[in-house]
Amino acid sequence: MQIRPRRRRTSAAIREMSKETSLDLSNLIYPLFLVDGTNIKSEIASLPGNFRLSIEHLLREIDSCVKLGLHSFILFPSVEEKHKDKTATYSYSSKNFYLRAIKEIKKRFPHIILISDVAMDPYSSDGHDGLVKNGKILNDETLPILSKMALAQAEAGIDLIGPSDMMDGRIGFLRDELDDNGFHDTGIMAYTAKYASAFYGPFRDALNSAPKLGDKKSYQMDPRNSREALLEADLDFTEGADFLMVKPALHYLDVIKALKDEFPIPVAAYHVSGECAMLTAACNNGWLDFNKAMPETLYSMRRAGADVILTYFAKDYALLLQKTK
Ligand code: PBG
Repeated sequence: MQIRPRRRRTSAAIREMSKETSLDLSNLIYPLFLVDGTNIKSEIASLPGNFRLSIEHLLREIDSCVKLGLHSFILFPSVEEKHKDKTATYSYSSKNFYLRAIKEIKKRFPHIILISDVAMDPYSSDGHDGLVKNGKILNDETLPILSKMALAQAEAGIDLIGPSDMMDGRIGFLRDELDDNGFHDTGIMAYTAKYASAFYGPFRDALNSAPKLGDKKSYQMDPRNSREALLEADLDFTEGADFLMVKPALHYLDVIKALKDEFPIPVAAYHVSGECAMLTAACNNGWLDFNKAMPETLYSMRRAGADVILTYFAKDYALLLQKTK
């Protein structure tokens, strides 16, 4: 036997030297849920260990993450029903607690990367990402609403906007709007290949944002498709996206790889709520070892080509690194 692959596995040191990928805290983005009010910290039942936080708790949470070495966060608002309407007007209202929070977070932590969500669903009385008329989700009529939302977030100081709505043409539309208003340096992390997935359940519980009628299949991608993701990526890339995202991640590793191979900008993988919840459930049952299964799960996305990973396990991974140092 001339070739013995096991020689490169004989010690921890040589395994470290031979590793093909790595996972650093700079690769991770931690999703956080914001709720209006004070002194609120309510656990999301279907996503144990994750909470809806009011601003003072949220600032404390970011502080503890920054101390661990995490520097990127994506923020989602849990909006009361009374603020929801057909056209998501609260999303760009000066009274919006989410916009106020963005300002406060960036004032306290100017060096972190803060990413927003741009879509109508948290603010829409229909629970859809776009404007609903006669049971249809209107594309072009949704774009000006999204751009008002994105502009308000840019004004509040967001670093990257995150359009998660899957309307056609929205990246170019939002890029133009940001540029026309002087926000050249506000970036776009585009939800490029976002699938109509069953794995968003816990997230919709967290925000109470499930569609009131129907599903999201007329705008989110069909889970049976992968080549179509290249078309979506081509559009987002050409329209000025700074990052291309694949969502969910674990069930779409082939799509992550395809985008990584074809496009010269970073690929983000969103390890979504349901994907995290199923691992947590197995671990809480004693069926899997969390500290081993969690990093292995994240490595799979790095191996597939994800430059950055949005995951509810970001803080757990940071804590694990600290423990094993
Ligand atoms: C909303 C949005 C969703 C997620 C992120 N932004 C849900 C949806 O499209 O219904 C899901 C994230 C997760 O499940 O962790 N536009």
